[in-house]
Amino acid sequence: MIKLWMAPAGLHIEPGKLADAKELARIHALGFYRGWPSGEFESFLSDPNTPVYVACDARRRIAGFALIRVVEDEAELLTIAVDPKWRGKRIGQALLKAVLDDLLTTPARRMFLEVSEENVPAIKLYQREGFATISSRKGYYPKADGSQATALVMARDLG
Ligand SMILES: CC(C)(COP(=O)(O)OP(=O)(O)OC[C@H]1O[C@@H](n2cnc3c(N)ncnc32)[C@H](O)[C@@H]1OP(=O)(O)O)[C@@H](O)C(=O)NCCC(=O)NCCS
Repeated sequence: MIKLWMAPAGLHIEPGKLADAKELARIHALGFYRGWPSGEFESFLSDPNTPVYVACDARRRIAGFALIRVVEDEAELLTIAVDPKWRGKRIGQALLKAVLDDLLTTPARRMFLEVSEENVPAIKLYQREGFATISSRKGYYPKADGSQATALVMARDLG
């Protein structure tokens, strides 16, 4: 049985498929200074420890996705990205809620993520979903202008 979650704007969230790799790489590259090749997404999509969740319409046009890794009792948000055309409609929030809901079916008890301290929309989203900053890592993210941004490490309990 395929898992489904409702999302805003007539979209829904379902598990990613191998055939989505190219589209995920495209959306990811629009959201990050350094994109990942689609082969990287093929590896994630083939690995049961790195589930992918896609927000899409009935014709399976993808607006955004979240990718996590689950290792024993810990989960990590590896990345989340929404196509710029679809941002600000709470699709990121719906993706994160679907992830948190699905993690209730796993042994994971705590979830972690890293985010640039300059990424205001993402930090707002994570705080709204119960994540709190537990530490920071200076000089973690390379920026287009050659400088580096500090990463915040955020976490929340699950369940
Ligand atoms: C982070 C991201 C996934 C959020 O997706 P989204 O669907 O737009 O998220 P939501 O609509 O749920 O809104 C997230 C928050 O950001 C706010 N926001 C949206 N666009 C914003 C902007 N340009 N500037 C400031 N805040 C903004 C929203 O108002 C909301 O905050 P609120 O609860 O205080 O209103 C999306 O911005 C994105 O893909 N960014 C590029 C990739 C990225 O940075 N990923 C996270 C890396 S850790």
